[in-house]
Amino acid sequence: MTTTGRSASGASDALAPETATVAKALTQEVLQSFDHAPERLRTLMQSLVGHLHTFVLDNDLTEAEWRYAIDFLTRAGHITSDTRQEFILLSDTLGVSSLVDLLTNSRTPESTPSAVLGPFYVEGPPDLPDGTDISGGHLDGDPVLANITVNDLQGRPIPGAVVDVWQANQDGFYDVQLPDLEGPVLRGRLRTDTHGHVSFWTILPAPYPIPDDGPVGQMLAAAGRHPMRAPHIHFMIAAPEKHTLVTQLFVEGGDYLGSDTVFGVKAPLTVPFPVQDDPPADGHAAHWRRLDFIFNLADQT
Ligand code: BEZ
Ligand code: FE
Repeated sequence: MTTTGRSASGASDALAPETATVAKALTQEVLQSFDHAPERLRTLMQSLVGHLHTFVLDNDLTEAEWRYAIDFLTRAGHITSDTRQEFILLSDTLGVSSLVDLLTNSRTPESTPSAVLGPFYVEGPPDLPDGTDISGGHLDGDPVLANITVNDLQGRPIPGAVVDVWQANQDGFYDVQLPDLEGPVLRGRLRTDTHGHVSFWTILPAPYPIPDDGPVGQMLAAAGRHPMRAPHIHFMIAAPEKHTLVTQLFVEGGDYLGSDTVFGVKAPLTVPFPVQDDPPADGHAAHWRRLDFIFNLADQT
């Protein structure tokens, strides 16, 4: 987009007094047009209009810049499909998804922190028995034995919790991004046993770029930002009368932990995947890593 040479410091205080008066009246008129909306809608729309008008005035927005923004959103709409959601990517890369997630989390602060869902969750993943290798056993990458426990906030195990897990392969692709791949790979659904425990084999997740061939990718490139996510495994854990937890575990020491493009990394979710020297009990692999983690689920309120 073209730049205008306007100062970054904004222009609302530099407006001619008559213009400022007309602008203020215009904003008031728009705010009042929502006066009779249902309460929450009125609150949100009046707040949004107020912020948008301030944004326009403070930045002395030009017609060309506004048209560019409309065109950007139009392109985001055009690239969005059943399998591609550019508006969520925009929300993610602007940190809005993580901010909403932070508020959600703050309502149950003792539970394991949540993290953004991302676009690669598939409803109804395959049911898998405990101990399954979700990589199918034929992927490169360090084997990882994940030992997961699901507890309530009092530290009591939750039997029968539904644990959905999904992750990218060693090249940073989810199965749904690979049309030639047979069947679900690196995703599945397990259920905790009477000790609140599930285990599965997988591979060490790799960093990967979010889909960056659309307007969001152009925005990142224009801003000199990279599109990479820090390496992680996704979890969605549900149990009766508990808040469903949507979260991710990040590989301690992994790349991009400090600059995750969707601002999803949280310290309590960044965990070691230590290399093991002894062969595991089931003889799965000579060189492997462990992941041990306890998730704590809050009661539904
Ligand atoms: C993911 O972790 O799968 C993801 C999250 C947000 C945007 C893109 C990908
Ligand atoms: Fe992911």
